[in-house]
Amino acid sequence: MKFGHFDDANREYVIDTPKTPYPWINYLGSQEYFALISNTGGGYSFFRDAKMRRLLRYRYNNIPTDIGGRYTFINDGGDVWTPTWLPVKADLDHYECRHGMGYSIITGERNGLKVSTTYLVALGETAELQKITFTNTSGKPKDIKAFPYVEFCLWNAEDDQTNYQRNLSLAEVEVERDGKLEVTGRPLAADGNRDSTRPTYTEISDPDAGKFTGAAIYHKTEYRERRDHYAVFAVNVPTEGFDTDRDSFVGLYNYLGEAQVPREGHCHNSIASGWYPIGAHEIHLTLAPGESKEVVVVLGYIENPDAEKWADDTHQIINKKRAHELLGKFSTPEKFDNALAALKVYWTDLLSKYKVKSTDEKLDRMVNIWNQYQCMVTFNMSRSASYFETGIGRGMGFRDSNQDLLGFVHLVPERARERIIDIASTQFPDGSAYHQYQPLTKRGNHNLGSGFNDDPMWLVAGVAGYIKETGDWGILKEPVPFDNAPGSEQPLMEHLKRSFDFVVSHLGPHGLPLIGRADWNDCLNLNCFSSTPGESFQTTENQAGGVAESTFIGAQFVLYGKDYAELCDHLGNHDEANRARGAVEKMRENMLLHGWDGNWFLRAYDYYGEPVGTHNDKEGQIWIEPQGFAVMAGIGVDSTDPTSQAYQDSPAGKALASVDKYLNTPHGMVLQYPAYTTYQIKLGEVSTYPPGYKENGGIFCHNNPWVTIAETVVGNGKKAFDLYKQITPAYREDISEVHRLEPYVYAQMIAGKEAPKHGEAKNSWLTGTAAWNFVTVSQYLLGIRPDYDGLIVDPQIGPEVPDFEVTRVCRGATYHIKVHNSGQPGARATLTVDGKPIEGRLVPYATPGSTVEVTATL
Ligand code: GLC
Ligand code: GLC
Repeated sequence: MKFGHFDDANREYVIDTPKTPYPWINYLGSQEYFALISNTGGGYSFFRDAKMRRLLRYRYNNIPTDIGGRYTFINDGGDVWTPTWLPVKADLDHYECRHGMGYSIITGERNGLKVSTTYLVALGETAELQKITFTNTSGKPKDIKAFPYVEFCLWNAEDDQTNYQRNLSLAEVEVERDGKLEVTGRPLAADGNRDSTRPTYTEISDPDAGKFTGAAIYHKTEYRERRDHYAVFAVNVPTEGFDTDRDSFVGLYNYLGEAQVPREGHCHNSIASGWYPIGAHEIHLTLAPGESKEVVVVLGYIENPDAEKWADDTHQIINKKRAHELLGKFSTPEKFDNALAALKVYWTDLLSKYKVKSTDEKLDRMVNIWNQYQCMVTFNMSRSASYFETGIGRGMGFRDSNQDLLGFVHLVPERARERIIDIASTQFPDGSAYHQYQPLTKRGNHNLGSGFNDDPMWLVAGVAGYIKETGDWGILKEPVPFDNAPGSEQPLMEHLKRSFDFVVSHLGPHGLPLIGRADWNDCLNLNCFSSTPGESFQTTENQAGGVAESTFIGAQFVLYGKDYAELCDHLGNHDEANRARGAVEKMRENMLLHGWDGNWFLRAYDYYGEPVGTHNDKEGQIWIEPQGFAVMAGIGVDSTDPTSQAYQDSPAGKALASVDKYLNTPHGMVLQYPAYTTYQIKLGEVSTYPPGYKENGGIFCHNNPWVTIAETVVGNGKKAFDLYKQITPAYREDISEVHRLEPYVYAQMIAGKEAPKHGEAKNSWLTGTAAWNFVTVSQYLLGIRPDYDGLIVDPQIGPEVPDFEVTRVCRGATYHIKVHNSGQPGARATLTVDGKPIEGRLVPYATPGSTVEVTATL
């Protein structure tokens, strides 16, 4: 069952009911100002940091789930409704939501009035804009009232929800209309009714007032003290009224959908003084039959330098110069349309770096549009703000951000470079790392600290991915501090050496890496032994002196250790390269000697040195992470012909066959099997989830691509493509009632085979799956993979995608690659470059500006 459809020509997903199985959201903004918006107008926005600079309030665990956002209440001759359906929930005659690249368009129509709102964050601006188009589709003239509405958050989103004793006395606003300023509300009248008469304006001299012709509400809570920022919520047309106090607009005992002002038909002109500040405007429109009128709404974030903080500091009137500039830029619908057009050009340009044309439209739309789009979002957000991540918890992950880079680097390499430097600056001198850092301060997060022993090698992965894409070897010489300490700067290459050495110097009794608090799997906490409710499994190390080891980090070290060695060679440091290769080789041996159970790789050794993930275990016999990663790293790969006996006898062949047998399902591969049915104090958080969810036997999509890539490594393109399709949203669109989340983006988890809700997804958007499945499909299935000295062309996608073409822009040159694919197991491409056959599968990089024609036949 579907709830909409893809519109590939417009790069949009079109939702045709507000009652999707869960709110289906989009992200606006790609650099500093971000907004989340659901198909019913819900969501919130923030400047850079979802916790520290929240503009709009959002209530978690709400009933219903998704109330709070940007809404326009309509009063059409007494009939009150919202074109986003929520919050009023009046039936709509027509509804449509189009989520596009950085914009959304939501249209609702009722009783001959069509209201269509386009939402976007303009490029380079710290503001979200709406253009609302009101169309009279009835045969009669209409007089309508519209009330655009938002609720402000008092900046720190966590404090905002908890610290009422302070916060409810803080709110301050200013209102500006017709060149006049209102900053003090009229005190309550004797009858206790604030609204018996509309307050008169308090005119206070503001040299800048009157420059703006519409109406603007300024949210300036805490500006009087240490903040240098405020928010502005404005409309570009004259208004008949406003409200800034929530209870005046909604009514103390009403749900938002029952808000009293839209029903009464006029605002109270309330000035918030403490309590809950909102922004609401009252607009009157007269529409002849068939006539349309447009209104532009701006929600902006403004920062003022200290010296320019006030227009009048005696009366604490904020300086609005920058706000007026912003509002001036979007004072007409035409200016809004230009911003939308610029956004579309921006995305056309970004998405032109990798394009495929095949016979499979689902494949094409994921590769050309949605997967790359999601990679941008995960790069921007890390795991901070979604409908499952509150934005008040996590900062940027060291591990996560390095992986997110891999799917993003081709889009905006300069930003990937900046990110690498930020991440590396939080590394400790011994090569370990803060597990997370705060995006606003870029400082490591002390609460969580370090000790996740896979973190160091992810930095190597990120840097290697960046250099392969860009050829920017200079980054390795860039001076980067440790733990952000001034004076501690060393070239980035030294950071990589410390990452590498951290693993080498933290090996356990089997020569495999010590796991620390956890490896990639945050929930495998082998040193924790927690019996205290509520204690964090990630930060509590209840037992020191254990020898728990990780085969995942072992495989990761083999894979990225080879990259480290290649980087050393490129810098001419062959001794170090050889030392590194020696350590990698030793690890490879130890993985096969001590990390192998007979038919698959072990998962770990526990605190006591006992193996985890063996055929002797009753639960958690086989785990996915080391199988995919080890084969990706080439461990146990004795043959790349999946039909051969040699392959079937090889560790890689056995491991992948075991994955297929025990872990695979039609909805993706589960993380381990059988799931734990009881709490295992030796293993930690992994066994806290009911069987089939999250790390306990859920389909944790992030690691599925590792197995998919592994299948391409052994020449099994057909199997690889089957695995890819199982978790890829466009292929799951038809079962949206089961999957429940957005059919255009990956989710972190799909309930596993032991869960009652097998196939149901959770945690959409912010997942490493986005980057990893883009790497998988673009570099391994379609097979176009940047390497240090050239573009590898090595497709492995099986017979279902016979012929296809890829356009890849890399290092300034454009490669047109035509693939003729037999899809035979084990087949590998032979290439021609500009008509001439070449040896091998590496197309040397061409000079920037040139175009290269490649054919690949297999
Ligand atoms: C989450 C975390 C990620 C971790 C994964 C597995 O996605 O963000 O860092 O690797 O869970 O536990
Ligand atoms: C990962 C896991 C989650 C765990 C968290 C701890 O995101 O998916 O289950 O609670 O890490 O940080």
